[in-house]
Order: sequence, then structure tokens, then C-alpha cells
Amino acid sequence: MKERSSIAVIGLSVHTAPVEMREKLAIPEAQWSRAIGELCNLNHIEEAAVLSTCNRMEIYVVALSWHRGIREVMEWMSKTSGIPVSELREHLFMLRDSDATRHLFEVSAGLDSLVLGEGQILAQVKQVVRVGQDSGGLGKNIDRLFKDAITAGKRVRSETNISSGAVSVSSAAVELALMKLPKAHFLSARMLVIGAGKMGKLVIKHLSSKGCKRIVVVNRSAEKVEAIREELKDVEIITSLSMR
Ligand SMILES: *[C@@H]1O[C@H](CO)[C@@H](O)[C@H](O)[C@H]1NC(C)=O
Ligand SMILES: *[C@@H]1O[C@H](CO)[C@@H](O)[C@H](O)[C@H]1NC(C)=O
Repeated sequence: MKERSSIAVIGLSVHTAPVEMREKLAIPEAQWSRAIGELCNLNHIEEAAVLSTCNRMEIYVVALSWHRGIREVMEWMSKTSGIPVSELREHLFMLRDSDATRHLFEVSAGLDSLVLGEGQILAQVKQVVRVGQDSGGLGKNIDRLFKDAITAGKRVRSETNISSGAVSVSSAAVELALMKLPKAHFLSARMLVIGAGKMGKLVIKHLSSKGCKRIVVVNRSAEKVEAIREELKDVEIITSLSMR
């Protein structure tokens, strides 16, 4: 008997996996098309999309067989990340059909984010559709799923007050930090930011927009700090911890 196709999501997020693992699995935007091509070449996968951000890595597929499809995607993730399947399995979640759909709607609405209702994730879901279109389409079902999720995400934000608080993890972090600091010390304080990646850069931008222009960055590579320096010329960025 022929099995019915299923929609499946296989993934891990900030709620299920440590950052080291998310970093190894992350797929930069420039490689989404290639990843989708590889996934669709698997025996039991018909359509695929990749949602990869710093907080989550989720693969959406239409699978001809749930069990075989899941196994093939897991093996593919293991191959691309170098993490053994046995280790991956402990951190992965898998959802099927209406549960998978519900999950993407929640993600898109900001309900699964670290900061409830943040808007960055909706932009990231939109980007998946845009990149999919540029590279010849996501496939009929996945395309519909993502477009409906975007509509749901927009509706949730316009019909509820979910996005009325902090708008992102980075702005929430900056607001919390400033709340803890006596007002008088705001502008003169030297702020320590750990990491010069996307999030670090956003934190520095938010700090700068609040008037904090003296920042110490603990970095792992020179290029990223230099790029931030280049972009935010009015911010004094120190990369050595030896204070002057
Ligand atoms: C959103 O907040 C405003 C102002 O506090 C309030 O008047 C409105 O009823 C709220 N809307 C919803 C859908 O809760
Ligand atoms: C951090 O950035 C500075 C300035 O570009 C660079 O000199 C330093 O080597 C970087 N640190 C590491 C660990 O790469």
C-alpha cells in the first residue's frame, strides 16, 4: 500500500540544543539553495526548505514516507555538521503534518522566540520564501505553508499586542542592562560585549543608539570587529581587555 506524503519539520532550537551544536548545523543564506537541492535529491523527500537563524535550525520537508524521510534528513544533517546521528537525536524535535504547520505558525508569530513577539523571525521566515523564489521555488506545499505562516505572523502582530514590548533579543538585553545601571552613569559607562557576530553587532548598535559609545568587545576574529568599527565610526571599540 502506498504511504501518504507528510509534511515534517526536523530541527533544533535555542530551547533544545546548546549553541555549539546550533553553530555546527547553521547554514548561511548563500547555501540555502544548495541545501534544498541536496535534500530534494534524497530518496523520500519531495520538497524542502531550511530555516536557519542563530536561535534555530529547522528543516521543513514533504516526505513520501515519514520514517524514511526523517531518517534521510537526520543523516543529511549529520553529514553536513559532522555531528553523529546518535548525538543529534538527543536534541532534535520532529513534528508531522498539522503539528509541523502549527509550529511554523508559532515561530512566525514570535511565540517560540526567546523574546516573545520579536519581529526578526518574521523577516527571516519571509527571507526563506524570497530565496526559494530566486532559486526556482520551494515546491507547491512548502511554499504555501511558509506563505500562510507569514500571513499568520503578520495577523498576530497586528491584532494582538504581542509586539508592543521589546522587539528583539538584542534590544531587550540592552534595555535590561541599562535598567540595572544608575542613570547618571549611562553615557560614561564602558560596556563589555562578548562576541562580535550578528547579535554582538546588534547589541553594540542598540547601545550606541542609547548614547553608550564606549565599548569593549571580546572577539574571536579580527575581521568581524573591523567590520563593526567600519560601520559604527562614532563608537569607540576596544578589543583588548587591558583597560587604559
Ligand atoms: C492593546 O493595548 C491597548 C493599549 O494598552 C489596548 O487598548 C488594546 O485593547 C490592546 N489590544 C488587545 C487586542 O489586547
Ligand atoms: C580581536 O580584534 C582585534 C582588532 O581587530 C585583533 O587585533 C585581535 O587579534 C582579535 N582577537 C582575536 C582573538 O582574534
